[in-house]
Amino acid sequence: MKLSSEQVRQFEELGYLLLPDLFSPAEMAILNAEVPKILTQQRTEVIREKGSDAPRSAFYVQTWNDVFERLARHPRLVEPGIQLLGSDKLYMHQFKINAKAAFDGAVWQWHQDYATWYEDDQMPSPQAMNIALFLAEANEFNGPLMFIPKSHRGGRLQAGHDVTTTSYPLWTTDSETITRLVAEGGIVAPKGPPGSALLFHGNLVHASGSNLTPWSRWIVYLSLNRCDNAIRRFKRPTWIANHDFTPIEMRPDDCLISYARQARGAAE
Ligand code: SIN
Ligand code: MN
Repeated sequence: MKLSSEQVRQFEELGYLLLPDLFSPAEMAILNAEVPKILTQQRTEVIREKGSDAPRSAFYVQTWNDVFERLARHPRLVEPGIQLLGSDKLYMHQFKINAKAAFDGAVWQWHQDYATWYEDDQMPSPQAMNIALFLAEANEFNGPLMFIPKSHRGGRLQAGHDVTTTSYPLWTTDSETITRLVAEGGIVAPKGPPGSALLFHGNLVHASGSNLTPWSRWIVYLSLNRCDNAIRRFKRPTWIANHDFTPIEMRPDDCLISYARQARGAAE
């Protein structure tokens, strides 16, 4: 999976790139069949919304679910990371499913991911990025990701540690800075059906609102980092900020379909 030079230019200019229909409905059905049982597990890696039982995020899923293990090594997701980060040695800094559950999904405050990767994990440079795959539709109502285009261009911004708004501590950007950046770049909320992917720079400022709709907005995130940019501080547990810097070895492009075929064969 190779991005065109126009797609690379768009990513570099705006800080993000939407790839509609990257995965087929059959592949999405295989992934989505796993999600309810993942989000209902009672385990440390599945965190709940503040003051509620609704799932917020399931972390490190690639280590405890066979289907998502395949997704974490999928060439359609990893190859664009290799291309945009300029290294064929990448590791998974963080892997999570954000549930943004129907009626209960809470906000993500405005932030740059690299602010947290820098402050908490001492990641040396912002040569890391997110690949988000929409498991469910993201529409204008169910708390889609909001980006400030071009906001990655000013580098890492001053951030404050928000440990109160939500159940997940995050280094966030203050309202004055957001006001200035939005005046310059506006806000976009890329939307799409399941199977669309959204790639964004580690310094792109983003947020999402709450979900008051009956439609959960499941998204799986691969946060890819260059192996030569590995974190230096191990304050956060490995299931949140991976301490294992082994380069990702990709699987074949049909790994989801072949997994489902094998699983069906074994059941017969
Ligand atoms: C994040 O910023 O890491 C998640 C935001 C979201 O899923 O809405
Ligand atoms: Mn983020």
